[in-house]
Parts: sequence; C-alpha cells; structure tokens
Amino acid sequence: MAIKSLLPGAVALSLFLFSFALAQSPIISASIEPAATTVPSSTVAGAPLLEVETVQLTEAVIARIENDLQTTDYAKLFAFDSDAAVEKRNLPACKTYPGDWNWPIRLVWDLFDMLLGGALIPTVPIAAPCYDSKWGPKDQAKCNEIVATFSKPFRHEDDPTSVMWPIFQGKTCLARNNTTPADTCTLGGFPEYAVKVENVAQVQLAVNFARTTNIRLVIKNTGHCYLGKSAGAGSLSLWMHNLKEIEFLPNYRTKGYTGKAFKVGAGVTVQEIYRAAEAQNTVVQGGICEASCCSVGYVGGYLQGGGHNPLSGKYGMAADGVLAFQVVTADGRFVTASETSHPDLFWALRGGGGGTFGVVVSATVKAFPNTQVTKSSFVLGNTTTQTVSQDVFWKGVRKYWESFPEYTDAGTYSFFFLWNRGGQLSLDMRAFFAPGHTPESLNKLLKPWFDLVNDLGIPFATPPNTTHYDTFFPAYWATWGQVPFPLGTSTSLPGNRLIPRSFFTDGAKLNATFNQVKAHVLSGRHFVCYHQAPGNPTGADNAVSSAWRNAQAFLVTQSPAFAEGASQAEIRAADQTLQNVILAPWRQLAGASQGGGSYLNEATVMEPSWQSEFYGTQYPKLVDIKKQYDPKALFYVTTGVASDEWEVRDGEMGVQTQFGKLCRV
Ligand SMILES: Cc1cc2nc3c(=O)[nH]c(=O)nc-3n(C[C@H](O)[C@H](O)[C@H](O)COP(=O)(O)OP(=O)(O)OC[C@H]3O[C@@H](n4cnc5c(N)ncnc54)[C@H](O)[C@@H]3O)c2cc1C
Ligand SMILES: *[C@@H]1O[C@H](CO)[C@@H](O)[C@H](O)[C@H]1NC(C)=O
Ligand SMILES: *[C@@H]1O[C@H](CO)[C@@H](O)[C@H](O)[C@H]1NC(C)=O
Ligand SMILES: *[C@@H]1O[C@H](CO)[C@@H](O)[C@H](O)[C@H]1NC(C)=O
Ligand SMILES: *[C@@H]1O[C@H](CO)[C@@H](O)[C@H](O)[C@H]1NC(C)=O
Repeated sequence: MAIKSLLPGAVALSLFLFSFALAQSPIISASIEPAATTVPSSTVAGAPLLEVETVQLTEAVIARIENDLQTTDYAKLFAFDSDAAVEKRNLPACKTYPGDWNWPIRLVWDLFDMLLGGALIPTVPIAAPCYDSKWGPKDQAKCNEIVATFSKPFRHEDDPTSVMWPIFQGKTCLARNNTTPADTCTLGGFPEYAVKVENVAQVQLAVNFARTTNIRLVIKNTGHCYLGKSAGAGSLSLWMHNLKEIEFLPNYRTKGYTGKAFKVGAGVTVQEIYRAAEAQNTVVQGGICEASCCSVGYVGGYLQGGGHNPLSGKYGMAADGVLAFQVVTADGRFVTASETSHPDLFWALRGGGGGTFGVVVSATVKAFPNTQVTKSSFVLGNTTTQTVSQDVFWKGVRKYWESFPEYTDAGTYSFFFLWNRGGQLSLDMRAFFAPGHTPESLNKLLKPWFDLVNDLGIPFATPPNTTHYDTFFPAYWATWGQVPFPLGTSTSLPGNRLIPRSFFTDGAKLNATFNQVKAHVLSGRHFVCYHQAPGNPTGADNAVSSAWRNAQAFLVTQSPAFAEGASQAEIRAADQTLQNVILAPWRQLAGASQGGGSYLNEATVMEPSWQSEFYGTQYPKLVDIKKQYDPKALFYVTTGVASDEWEVRDGEMGVQTQFGKLCRV
C-alpha cells in the first residue's frame, strides 16, 4: 500500500477500515469490554483518588485491545501518544469534518462507544422536538416544555451539548414553539457526539481517539461560557457535568499549605461547593450567579479562567486557592498538576483559561474558616417626594467611586448598576458585601459617603437595608441565590473592562475614568460595576492575568439589544456598536498597555487584541506551556491561548460562532 506511507498512521488506518467495512458485514460483537481498568485507590497530591479517577485507561488496557482479534485493527486509534514531536509536513490544514473522506465510519463509532462502556451520545439538538427533523416529528407538548424552561440553567446543564447562548451555535435550531413545517432544525455548531463522562478512562479514550482521527475535541461542563467555548461544529464533546463528587479533606498538607481542603469533581457547580463548604463550617472562593439554581460550574471555565469572587479582597482570585488538579493531557495520560508535579501545567491551569491545556477531572482547593458577612442594599436616586439635579447625583456617585481603594482595603466587594431611565439616574446597589464585617464596622466604613449623600440631599429611592449573617452561605444565598438571570437567549453581546488601582490614585486618570463612566451612563448604556481588588494576597505565582492583579474595579456592559431571530447583518451591526462605540473608549482608557484589560470569561468574543487584553503579561509564558503540553493542537477554544493559529470558518454570522470547520489560519 503505497498510499499508507504518505499518510499519517491514523488516516491510513481509517482508510483501511473504510474499505474493510464495505467489503464485510460488521465484525463488532457485544462482547467487547469497556477499555478501562480499576486501579487501587491511592493518595495523589495529598488527596485520595475520587472514585471516578480509579477507573483508568492504562497501557495494559491498550495491549488488551491490540491483542483482541475483534479490535486489533483499531487499537492504534485509542493508544496514548508516544510520539509528541510534530511532523510539520503531516499537519492537516483542517480538523476532520463530517462528510470528509476520512471521517470515521459508523463501525468505528460503534466500537468507540463499546470501549466507552456505552457512553457515546449522538447529538440531538435540544430544541429538536420543536421541528420536523431527522430526529423525528415535531412534538408540541415536549417543545412547549423546553421553551417554558429554556431560561433555566438546569435545562442546559442536563443536556449533553446545549449551550446557554444560542448565538454561538449558529441559531440553527432555536427553542421556539411557534415553528411552521417550513422551519428547519440542524446541528449547526453543536458537536456530532458527546461522551457522557463518568470516569477517567472515558476521557483518556476520547482524547486519544480525537487526536488520532484529527477530530475537533470540545469540553462542556454547564455551557455557561459567554463566548461559546463549549460548543463546536463537527466535534466530539466531553460532557463533564456528571462528575459530582466532593471530598472534604480536614487535614490537608502540602508544601505551602496545611489546613482544610476540598477535592471537587469537574461537574460540581459553584452552588454545590458553597453548600458543601458551609456544611463543614468553611468557605471556598466561588463566583456569584444570579440564577434560581446558581449554576456556573466550579472546576471548569470558572476556576481555570481565574474566578472573581466576593472573598477576593481577602484571598484573591479563586484560582489562587487551588492546590492541585487531576488532568488528562493531550497525549491521553492522567497526571497531577501541582507545585511539585508538572508545575508549569499547574501554573497555566490557574488562570490561563478553560479548554486549552487539558481536561481537568478534579481540583483540590483551600477551604477557609467560615466568616460572618454584613451586606447592604439600597437604591440612590430621585424619589417622588424629593429630587436632585444630575450634577448633584454625580457628585455623590463620584465620592463612592473615589472610595473604592478604601473599601477594597477593608476586604469588601460591591455589585451595583448605574441606570439611566429616560434621564432619571440611579445607583442600584444590589449588594455591598462585607465579609468579616459587623453592621457597626460596615456603617463606619460607609459613614463618610452616606454623610455626603445626606449633605447633598440625594434621596434614597430604596433606603439602605443592612443585614448581618453569621456565616457566608446564607448571605450569598439571600443576595444572589434566588435572583433569576436571563439565559438561553441571544439578544445582546457582553463586554467588560478591568480598571487598575492607579486610575484611582492618579488625579488626572481618576477624572478621565469618572468622566468616561458618566458619558457611558448618560448615553443610555448598560452599566454593571463591581468594586473588587483581588490583588495577590497569598503571593500566588500563576496565570491569573496581570490585569486582575492590578484591578480596582470591574465594569460590565453589553451591546444594543436585538431580537432573538435577528439576522446576521443585525447582529453584526450590534457588535460594531459594541466594539467601536461602547468598548473603544474603555479600551483606550484602560488597555493592557495601561495595566488594564478584560476578563476572558465575561468578554466580547470579538476583542481585537485578546492576547494581551485577556492574558496580560502572562501570555508569552502561556503560549510556551501550551506548545509543550499540546504540540498537536488537540485543544482549541476561540480566544484561548495560541488559538490565533486557527479559525472557525463560519462564513458571516455577525460575530464569531462555532458553526464552521476548524482550520489552520
Ligand atoms: C450567570 C453567570 C454568572 C457568572 N458569575 C461569575 C462570577 O461571579 N465570577 C466569575 O469569575 N465568573 C462568572 N461567570 C463567568 C463564568 O466563570 C464562565 O462563564 C465560565 O466559563 C463558566 O464555566 P463552566 O465550566 O460552567 O462553563 P462551560 O461553558 O461548560 O465551559 C467554559 C469553558 O471551560 C472549559 N471547560 C469546562 N470544563 C472543563 C474541564 N473539566 N477541563 C477543561 N476545560 C473545561 C470549556 O471548554 C469552555 O472553554 C458567570 C457567568 C454566568 C453566565
Ligand atoms: C407556546 O408557549 C406559550 C407559553 O409557554 C403558550 O402560551 C402557547 O400556547 C404555546 N404555543 C403553542 C402553539 O402551543
Ligand atoms: C431628578 O428629576 C428631575 C426632575 O424630573 C430631573 O431634572 C433630574 O435630572 C433627576 N435627577 C436624577 C439624578 O435623575
Ligand atoms: C432586608 O433584606 C433582607 C435580606 O435580604 C430581607 O429579608 C428583608 O425583607 C429586607 N427588608 C426590607 C425592609 O426590605
Ligand atoms: C479633576 O477634575 C476636577 C474637577 O473638574 C478639577 O478641579 C481637578 O483639577 C482635576 N484634577 C486633575 C489632576 O486633573
């Protein structure tokens, strides 16, 4: 076979399988065992293996596949990578795509499924029941149920491939219950298959299979990603949601840390780990999610992307609290990433972004002593009985803004909106969140500002409601746990900016920033702000962006709204306004060259210089580590480290989506 010597091994093999299958009836029998073995439970990086981590793919299992006559011809597809060196001339221009001549035939997928123990799920788009499609006839009752719950996080978490912002999927199967027979439902940017991950062996097998067949691999946990990074057309997806184990480690010991810790499976959500921590009278660093069942994943995009949190004033970013990860790397091996094992990988996984360096199976994180919290909520602005001019209102807001350094030094965090409703301005303080504070100490901290507001005569549309909680979780839950958050639709696009502390201490920069805030709000734009300064209180050396280390405030905004069914041209227009009108002044004010930047997890997918804006001074080192651990570019996410060597060819969708072939630039 002359052709074989010209092609990479796996390609030649699937060519062989293709002709083989045409000639013969399927040879696969149900007697093929899952490719897994149970290793003795042991302690790794100071913590016992989780149950799912004891089920592994080993060389012995690969040898078994090789020696079994039924599977011997295919064994290469599942083997570990023993040859990490990349032969440039053999690099295909694109990932293997459905319809390509070398896309694996059905027989191979069936075998893969058996080796996975039946965990392979061919994708059915979540809203398929709303359409007559190849997945069956329209089912109005099922469709109504999907539509009615589409804004709930669980709907997307519980589905192997659904993502929370349909725009990135290409909107080829929207959840609508008023479809006509002319409307169609197709896969779009959804993966072809998902693996319902229930053990490490399955992750290893899928990593090896995707690598040897050159198929795009994606990782989905909850599907929360604001940039669509948990979807991908023509891909194989790892669905991590079911890895729900949480192990409490009361006496954890490692080089730099002695204390309490948790070992947390990849599918655990922020709410679940918060509850587990409270049950042990401890706290962990998690985010805030305004959702009826706070649902952002913990170990996936959140921890790996940095993770800002209400305790950041005391303990820094959530990634700073990670003690170790268990990871399947691109070669298929299951490794520990910690200060002492693969320390460079450990460095990159703490802040360098999800979906880029490996598949994280678990994280071990510090658990801190539980803390009292005092929080205050209020709305400042005109009332029916008392009004002030806008100038006076801004004087009051300016004083609040100027006090950020003092507030963060006191370990506090706030989350508020500035609204402009037809010229009526208000500061809507959802939570001034003060861990470790009593009502007295919080009142003392806020008194100078409240006194000024009072002197200026600015009324409270809703007076301050200050509540004390003995422990963290009830405070968190009362503040954010039950507020519904709109998701499941794509009717605007997000953007954000991190403002450095120097912009609060330098008078000219302070003026420029505040004038920019005013201009933004007065032009009627959406404005969410956090005062928080994670800094680096624990002296962590990791990939968390320098922009976060410098940060004093985090601003979030969005594009003008558009309809769910908006055309590509309308989406493009909204994005252009977001980039050129709304975000351009923020970038110019606090770009990476000024020590500012943008948080990669809540950003616009169209950020022009995302390398420096998302990753700060950490970027070059991250690229080195990426090349070392993933020389064959198995892992790709849009705006991920070194992703600029690739592009998703989605045609013209308005913004970058995941509905297209993934090819080298
Ligand atoms: C309502 C809401 C509130 C939020 N609040 C906060 C907040 O307070 N603080 C904050 O910092 N962020 C916050 N975020 C942003 C959040 O951190 C990101 O959306 C994050 O990417 C979600 O991660 P996920 O794993 O749940 O999502 P997914 O969309 O499933 O995954 C996100 C990314 O992580 C990768 N990934 C997932 N699992 C793994 C794994 N096991 N191994 C390797 N890669 C993996 C995926 O490939 C993808 O690139 C919020 C988001 C929302 C929607
Ligand atoms: C679609 O759903 C809405 C509300 O969920 C309901 O009022 C309406 O009757 C449904 N339409 C159809 C065609 O069933
Ligand atoms: C308060 O209302 C007055 C009169 O309607 C208006 O002129 C003023 O701008 C408003 N102030 C704020 C802060 O919205
Ligand atoms: C104050 O806040 C607490 C906690 O959120 C809430 O239970 C209570 O109803 C609020 N009180 C008022 C007067 O709004
Ligand atoms: C900031 O603005 C104020 C009010 O406009 C002005 O008095 C002050 O001089 C400015 N400070 C600097 C450093 O530019």
